Amino acid sequence: MSRPILPAIDPSCIFSYHIRWITPRDIPAVVAIESASFSRPWTEADFRRALRHRDTITMVATSPKDDALLGFVVYRLSAKELEILNLAVGPAHRRKQVGSALMGKLYYKLGSHRRERLMVDVRESNTLAQVFFRACGMKCVSVVRGMYEAGDGDGERAEDGYRFEGRAG
Ligand SMILES: CC(C)(COP(=O)(O)OP(=O)(O)OC[C@H]1O[C@@H](n2cnc3c(N)ncnc32)[C@H](O)[C@@H]1OP(=O)(O)O)[C@@H](O)C(=O)NCCC(=O)NCCS
Repeated sequence: MSRPILPAIDPSCIFSYHIRWITPRDIPAVVAIESASFSRPWTEADFRRALRHRDTITMVATSPKDDALLGFVVYRLSAKELEILNLAVGPAHRRKQVGSALMGKLYYKLGSHRRERLMVDVRESNTLAQVFFRACGMKCVSVVRGMYEAGDGDGERAEDGYRFEGRAG
């Protein structure tokens, strides 16, 4: 951990939780958090597929008290950036800096892997996530029209994606 993270995240939150690589045993708890967090959740097969990709990494945040799984992040490493593909915290554990701890860990990784930036795409309708990523020092840098396909629901339309970018301090 050699580079400083953005001042937006209090580094101490990273040490309040255990953050480690996912193991196959964690998948049911991760899928439960995912289902409680998104209207179109990833399935267990999606997580297992992500686990098989060499450039895609999943980390989980657990409670130091009882090792309960509190949240997770899935990200992809490319030559210049680290892209968040999925991130969620269990509803009962939100607003306790678990998400910030995961983000702080990613900023440290950015520095140690010599990547320039952290990227994430967020649905236009997910305003809470937009507030969260801004609170973690990221900025909206572009809008991708119709990035998310319409679902089967009545009157649903394709949704724009907001691309957020963060850089290590
Ligand atoms: C977005 C999410 C990951 C945030 O996780 P979290 O652990 O609750 O976030 P933190 O406690 O670290 O919050 C950090 C800051 O973000 C902002 N924030 C987070 N949740 C917020 C909310 N519900 N309302 C307003 N601001 C919020 C605040 O500024 C907060 O700091 P504060 O608590 O000191 O005011 C969580 O709400 C979640 O899992 N949402 C559903 C899944 C999702 O949308 N994921 C992101 C898209 S990939």
